[in-house]
Amino acid sequence: MSDAGPSAPAGASVFVLGSVNRDFVLKVARRPGPGETVTDATLERHNGGKGANQAVAAARAGASVALLACVGEDAIGEEPVRSVGRAGVDVSLVKRVSGVTSGAAFITVTPDGENAITVAPGANRHLFPEDVDAVRERLSDAGVVVAQMEIPPETVARAGLLARESGARFVLNFAPPRPEAPRSVVRAADPLVVNEHEAAFLLGGDRPVRGARDALGAARDLLGLGPNSAVITLGPEGAVFAEARGSNGSSVASGHLPAPPVEPVDTTGAGDTFVGTLAAHLARGASLEEAVEAAVRAGSEAVTREGARG
Ligand code: RIB
Repeated sequence: MSDAGPSAPAGASVFVLGSVNRDFVLKVARRPGPGETVTDATLERHNGGKGANQAVAAARAGASVALLACVGEDAIGEEPVRSVGRAGVDVSLVKRVSGVTSGAAFITVTPDGENAITVAPGANRHLFPEDVDAVRERLSDAGVVVAQMEIPPETVARAGLLARESGARFVLNFAPPRPEAPRSVVRAADPLVVNEHEAAFLLGGDRPVRGARDALGAARDLLGLGPNSAVITLGPEGAVFAEARGSNGSSVASGHLPAPPVEPVDTTGAGDTFVGTLAAHLARGASLEEAVEAAVRAGSEAVTREGARG
């Protein structure tokens, strides 16, 4: 696949803020238990970080994309940023800070394609609300602003506020879930995008969300937290959405978009491909249902390829 996406129609611009990581991926037959050593792993290095992955996915889906992020002045951060630039994303807003290590993720992938991720956020922790203020005009020009939770929650909150003020659509991927995030972040989202675990977390822990039927109810319940719309991704089952309609949100439209059957190789970053694709389609004026349908297709394809950017 070529890195650069097709040229974007006017107005289809997406502003992403979020993490940039170098992904160190161990392919293992099985993960070791506590105190155990397994010695059959193979090491791969990929470019990652939820923010960077989502920016690349949006560009591949045809949007004009800018990325606001932070890396250290080290070799770890160099290639991930360069690769985002090669995908056609404007990386001129990426901040470099000295004295901190760039973000890194340590990922094990088992033969069924499932991943387990430990992140050392490093420089991603240094993206502050003031950095968002400094690029306020660029953010306000975008039709869609996208954020996730691998950067400080207050920075995400600032972006959500500015996006709403400027009339941009704020797509929030609440991943990983951050208990300390102000609830205003979730309220600003349109849509809030979560997986089943994140949905359960937001809805109050002891209620699990499993499968499409359950998730349809959960997506409607998530609207009770204030976002105008909510999407729950379901891996091989696709995704569901719920959207408040009418002048005061008096009615709710919802639906389930199933995924095509695929043979998973690596599920890492499939959610990021989903979010970036969704954002690009919303920026082009697609309905939420159309955007979710396209995102489900792109996310399913991504799991058939190695690495977080599929
Ligand atoms: O969502 C997948 C991403 O999460 C990986 O690329 C890793 O860097 C972590 O940020």
